[in-house]
Amino acid sequence: MRGEPDEIPQNQGFGGGIVSVGWNEYLGASDTCAKYCECHRRCKSSFEEHRRNILHAVEATKPKVVACLGAGVLNDIPYESMIRSGASIHLVDWIPDSIDTGIDLSIIQNDESGQPHCIYCHPTVTCPQAYCRNYRSSSTSAAAVCRSFVSIPGAPPRCAAYERGDQPRVHYEDVTAGYGAEFGREILAELHGVRSWRQAFVRAQALANRVDHHRTCTTIADASVQLVTSSMVISQFDHEPYQYFSHCAAGRLGLPTAKEEKRLLPLMKLLRETLLAKQVARHCEEIKRILAPGGYCYISFEMFHVVPEKPQWFLVEGMATALDVIGRHFVFDFDILPQDQQMRRFQTGDTASLVFSFLLAHRSGSAGASPARSVEPCPPARHPQVQG
Ligand SMILES: C[S@@+](CC[C@H](N)C(=O)[O-])C[C@H]1O[C@@H](n2cnc3c(N)ncnc32)[C@H](O)[C@@H]1O
Repeated sequence: MRGEPDEIPQNQGFGGGIVSVGWNEYLGASDTCAKYCECHRRCKSSFEEHRRNILHAVEATKPKVVACLGAGVLNDIPYESMIRSGASIHLVDWIPDSIDTGIDLSIIQNDESGQPHCIYCHPTVTCPQAYCRNYRSSSTSAAAVCRSFVSIPGAPPRCAAYERGDQPRVHYEDVTAGYGAEFGREILAELHGVRSWRQAFVRAQALANRVDHHRTCTTIADASVQLVTSSMVISQFDHEPYQYFSHCAAGRLGLPTAKEEKRLLPLMKLLRETLLAKQVARHCEEIKRILAPGGYCYISFEMFHVVPEKPQWFLVEGMATALDVIGRHFVFDFDILPQDQQMRRFQTGDTASLVFSFLLAHRSGSAGASPARSVEPCPPARHPQVQG
């Protein structure tokens, strides 16, 4: 959660745990995925509304190709319905293994009598072997799992035989057109020889501006996607790059004193704002690049937040700028999704948030602005009815 109060408790945001590992190692830290699994276990049900919203978007736009950016462990993705829709699916996240973990935890469900069902073995899925290399059709057409099924003990139910096929396409890549990852890769070297936290912030700020010249894209082809989803991703954009910077700086300088932290606050705010705004702009560019003419982007993010210590709503930092940036890239569409789904209040204990979710329409003729990439096209999509 970001955008919180003016005073920060000591050592919050200044590298609580000191690291000096490289960016890729940091992102792939062994406990990151474990945290995601834990989040999947605890929070899957609280993401129900997000899944319903994305399902509405799928039903309304009937995409042949969907790309879920920032897919994580698929908490907010109606994965089963997407599979049944017959759409070809791209899942993108930069945390190694997150998506495969999410898939692994999503494909087997137990019914009320405890019998396992595999979402790939459902009769509406016409090509299960595209999803699982070990799929072996069962002798009975009503079987809910295939002949290869081997149950892994424990919850949630999983299949030991599952091996990902050509679908979905999984990309462990940066969804900010290379900005966030490049900042992460460069910052450790940038901090070489720093003598003070002020100097560290000044260098990080200079890097955040310089990285703007660096540009890559995901391995999704230009103008190939009818529905892009960006669910609860943009307000997180500064999180990992900033955390990594602060951990690296703490590794070189030690943690700042409480007095120092107060003095550094304006620099911290400026750096986070820069990281966020630039990544939102790059994210929009990447979405525009992959979006097919006539395509839509489903976007959702936390706009307002309230915490028990300060019981008035505050605008999540950077989100006003984000809306402005989004508006410069896309046309807002508030008519396709149900009105009451577009602004929802979420309550978690004493904290609450207002989450905005809506569709963005492609501005005709603007696809493919970023570097062109030629990739193998996704297999042709089948297109039966979406089922919830
Ligand atoms: C709050 S989670 C969104 C929920 C997620 N869709 C799920 O269902 O678990 C934000 C996700 O965006 C990913 N993310 C953030 N910045 C990213 C970037 N620059 N490139 C790729 N993924 C990013 C994070 O790793 C995280 O998995």
